[in-house]
Amino acid sequence: MKITIIGSGYVGLTTGACFAEVGHHVVCVDNDARKVETLVAGQIPIYEPGLESLVKKNVASRRLSFTTSTEEGVNHGEVLFIAVPTPPQPDGSVDLSFIEKVAREIAQYLDSYRVIVDKSTVPVKTGERVTQTIRRYAKPGVEFDVVSNPEFLREGSAVEDLMKPDRIVIGGNSDRALAIMQKAYEPFVAPVLVTDINSAELIKHAANSFLALKISYINAISEICEAAGADVQKVADGIGMDKRIGRSFLSAGLGYGGSCFPKDIAAFIAISEQLGVPFNLLKEVQSINQRQIDRFVALIREALWVLKEKKLAVWGLSFKPNTDDVRSSVAISLVEQLAAEGADVLAFDPKGMEKAKQLPVASQIRFADSALEAATGAEALIIATEWPEFASVDLAALRDVMRTPLIFDGRNLIDPVAAASFGFQYRGIGRGILSERP
Ligand code: UDX
Repeated sequence: MKITIIGSGYVGLTTGACFAEVGHHVVCVDNDARKVETLVAGQIPIYEPGLESLVKKNVASRRLSFTTSTEEGVNHGEVLFIAVPTPPQPDGSVDLSFIEKVAREIAQYLDSYRVIVDKSTVPVKTGERVTQTIRRYAKPGVEFDVVSNPEFLREGSAVEDLMKPDRIVIGGNSDRALAIMQKAYEPFVAPVLVTDINSAELIKHAANSFLALKISYINAISEICEAAGADVQKVADGIGMDKRIGRSFLSAGLGYGGSCFPKDIAAFIAISEQLGVPFNLLKEVQSINQRQIDRFVALIREALWVLKEKKLAVWGLSFKPNTDDVRSSVAISLVEQLAAEGADVLAFDPKGMEKAKQLPVASQIRFADSALEAATGAEALIIATEWPEFASVDLAALRDVMRTPLIFDGRNLIDPVAAASFGFQYRGIGRGILSERP
């Protein structure tokens, strides 16, 4: 089957590579000529496990190609996926101008029937707008259908999430389009849920909001654990063993970040308000998320008294492990706050250094070449991202290189009892009972 993906960012590129891998002939379009050149040369602008080899393999087998020409893309694909950015606006609502522009471009080149798919995360009712726009700008009489097919991929496991999804949601109002979509997804072994367009669009925002809600729920519990002298990890294990709840997304920490959750929750609040149904629960989810980092900075400040000129090691800059993505990373917000108070921050991240070095905060901090180098001479170690290599650190070696043995573990990675046995003062998140131990 011939498939076109318009927009070769995180979602577009991974989707294109996976469709090619299962045997479709895929053209990925991007208006950034330099990005297209890089991709044609077999280089991937992001770090995503398994993606580079998938792209190289499918480019070599001629099932995957890249172009800057939307016209070429529209001519090629029976299905045209729109996977362009939908950035947030200052009021939290979504900027849909890229989607609108692509809809006009598709309309301009449309000569025969195509299925046009919204893959980007969009507010409910966007499909209706895309349909109106294409109809307005296309040649009279030309046939097309619009479908919503939200993506649920996580950064760091995007290829796996696409190749073995929990579910495939296809929202459409035409049997012809739905049949073509089912054919496109036939090679993937996963349950398919067919809905109307509005429901499919809502599923995406509702799913991400629910996951964020789970994180804020356990983070709120973590504060109660600290006050009461309890261990949030055990509480999460206990409630997570209930199959109706589940343990995933119940890891207390510094809160959620990244390019999806903060943006999607704000967008869902905005669209609900526009629909006349304010979603106040989600406002609380947001404020708990902010409170979590504020409480952590207050804890560090309280323990160290003055942050100015304190040498602080920070482990982790990416918004989560297995990615180099530092967009809306809580670790970056943390480093910004510490630097603003005059701390001498020496940071390390296994993959996110290059992208962090391009941020404004880079001029206010220093970067180390390894975790232990960052900790050398440090008056405290702060763990901001849960990279596995930080969890398996040699605590004796760490103790030897640090000036004063203090660990602030924002992701509950280190075993507090082991840390104490090596002479560390340890503070985690929601580990009231363990922090009290000598
Ligand atoms: C998310 C959704 O999971 C995915 O389905 C959607 O398509 C895009 O948004 P992603 O942003 O890649 O994916 O990351 P995810 O693994 O969901 O983590 C988001 C944030 O929540 C990270 O900052 C992570 O550290 C944090 N998190 C996650 C927690 O604080 N606790 C948890 O228990 C889980």
